[in-house]
Amino acid sequence: MLLQVDHVFKSYRRGQQVLKDINLTVGNGELVGLVGESGSGKSTLAKVIMQLEKPNKGTVLFQNQAITKHNRTSFYERCQLIFQNATAALNPTWTVRELLREPLQHQLSVNDTYLQTMLEKVKLPADILLALPTELSGGERQRVNLLRSILIEPQLIVCDEIVSSLDRLIQREIIDLLVTLNKERDMAILFISHDLKAVSYLCDRIYVMKAGEIVDESYKEQNRFAFTDSYAQRLFQAIHHT
Ligand SMILES: Nc1ncnc2c1ncn2[C@@H]1O[C@H](COP(=O)(O)OP(=O)(O)OP(=O)(O)O)[C@@H](O)[C@H]1O
Ligand SMILES: [Mg+2]
Repeated sequence: MLLQVDHVFKSYRRGQQVLKDINLTVGNGELVGLVGESGSGKSTLAKVIMQLEKPNKGTVLFQNQAITKHNRTSFYERCQLIFQNATAALNPTWTVRELLREPLQHQLSVNDTYLQTMLEKVKLPADILLALPTELSGGERQRVNLLRSILIEPQLIVCDEIVSSLDRLIQREIIDLLVTLNKERDMAILFISHDLKAVSYLCDRIYVMKAGEIVDESYKEQNRFAFTDSYAQRLFQAIHHT
């Protein structure tokens, strides 16, 4: 298994249980969605997976190994988190070239030719390398942010609401790009969003979270999901009628 979250519990100091006995897996090359209302614990789970928060109980295994301080660097080479807010993630004083080169510092073979091939892949013009983040549109910033995370060719990317603030057309472009990366590189994606349409379009399997618990899980069959939990059913009912 690529990623395995096993009986994870998390509460913050205030004492409220934010994650209650979470079990979740992502297989090699799998497209997995995680949906749920605001405050249900999705971002907290992403942070626990990325080792940015420590669970009170439970484990996160990557390629069947617990992540420790000894293998953390190699974990981050194989698993990357992409945040909602691309603007905050990008240092405003750096050019796109500098931003893109930073995650690749340990690799010797990075040159502009490689960067340009990758820019083409995410449909960004080559002259964008000289631009500052403030000179880009929201969609361009999100693509630069995404490109930064995929340059090191991770096996899994955890995307936390990366398309939510973008208009439908750019959303679709980013999602189609994710599909391409998944196909070409067998890159697995854990796609967190409250945009059910986007999640249903992209993912082969979806988990539904409610108040810190995973209440349902379903595989896509004939382009549809079949949830058994009544909350999950209600959530998804609306989108099948639009
Ligand atoms: N650092 C923190 N300290 C204390 N409480 C926190 C912290 N981070 C999150 N919480 C609480 O944990 C709960 C879950 O938050 P989380 O951000 O994981 O939800 P979410 O599902 O990602 O919501 P959204 O869809 O709005 O992004 C919320 O009640 C939130 O107030
Ligand atoms: Mg969140």
